[in-house]
Amino acid sequence: MHLIINFWFLFLVSLGFIPEFTSTYYTIIDQQQEKPLIESIKRGEIIYSKFCARCHKTNGQGSKNYPPLANSDWLTTKPTKSIHAIKYGLKGNIIVNGKSYKKTMPKQKLEDHEIADVLNYVMNNWSNTQNVMITTNNVKAVKN
Ligand code: HEC
Repeated sequence: MHLIINFWFLFLVSLGFIPEFTSTYYTIIDQQQEKPLIESIKRGEIIYSKFCARCHKTNGQGSKNYPPLANSDWLTTKPTKSIHAIKYGLKGNIIVNGKSYKKTMPKQKLEDHEIADVLNYVMNNWSNTQNVMITTNNVKAVKN
């Protein structure tokens, strides 16, 4: 019975009926995860200021050629692609909050655990809130 439910769940996730975030792949935050998440966010803030702020700006609003991370519908619905963008870079046309961007984001020279921290920071800063925590294993799992 479990197997059948799992199958349908994954099937619906793959069709996009259930957002990726509710899938079992990402760690849903419960009280036990709260403390590690807060610590990860703190480390992420430092990484953000060194690696990301020059393009996406301290307030996460981006600028003419650089897309925003604050309130970004791209970031908040595409955790796997966001990991991929930081790990391997991103180029080509993307649409963020209805606006198109086509500059290149170079891959960031960060360790997997640092990518997890910086994502936990951007996903839980400004007015962004996420009910999952990105782990080092999530980052490791994303291949080019
Ligand atoms: C040199 C400038 C630059 C730096 C540094 C940079 N980015 Fe980006 N980023 C971009 C550009 C340009 C795009 C859009 C690429 C495209 O149009 O395909 C982008 C896109 C993104 C996106 C997807 C679109 C969105 O707005 O949600 C995310 C998420 C992201 N960047 C996160 C980060 C994080 C986190 C860091 C720091 C670890 C970072 N970026 C560092 C330039 C940069």
